[in-house]
Amino acid sequence: MTDKDLLTKAREAAQNAYVPYSHFPVGAALECEDGTVYLGCNVENAALGSTICAERVAVCKAVSDGRMKFKRIAVHGEGENYCMPCGACRQFMIEFSPDMEVLCTKAGGRYVSYTLSQLMPYSFSY
Ligand code: THU
Repeated sequence: MTDKDLLTKAREAAQNAYVPYSHFPVGAALECEDGTVYLGCNVENAALGSTICAERVAVCKAVSDGRMKFKRIAVHGEGENYCMPCGACRQFMIEFSPDMEVLCTKAGGRYVSYTLSQLMPYSFSY
């Protein structure tokens, strides 16, 4: 699957975002080592701290299906800045696949690509 294919899936996933508070839909498409793709979107809550990001929704879907090795994640957001995973999502993903690629979009469709360890050096583990 090309980067563009995965980014398209992330854009489609954003259509299900539940965002009555921020009005900022995010979609994620997570590609596992075996090629399976899980989608996620952000799901907000009136208790704002209970909001779950798109990336963590996708990772939880994969792990709860028994898949823990990830190749790439595409994160779709249409802000003026690239929609980078938040700190909690970086920590959550690095638990499973530090070398995975992270593709992030911004308005207009441009995207950047990093490895997760570039985004999260010296991460916590024990
Ligand atoms: N959000 C994500 O879904 N992923 C991120 O990595 C950063 C932020 C969501 C959370 C919230 O619903 C909205 O973006 C605005 O913060």
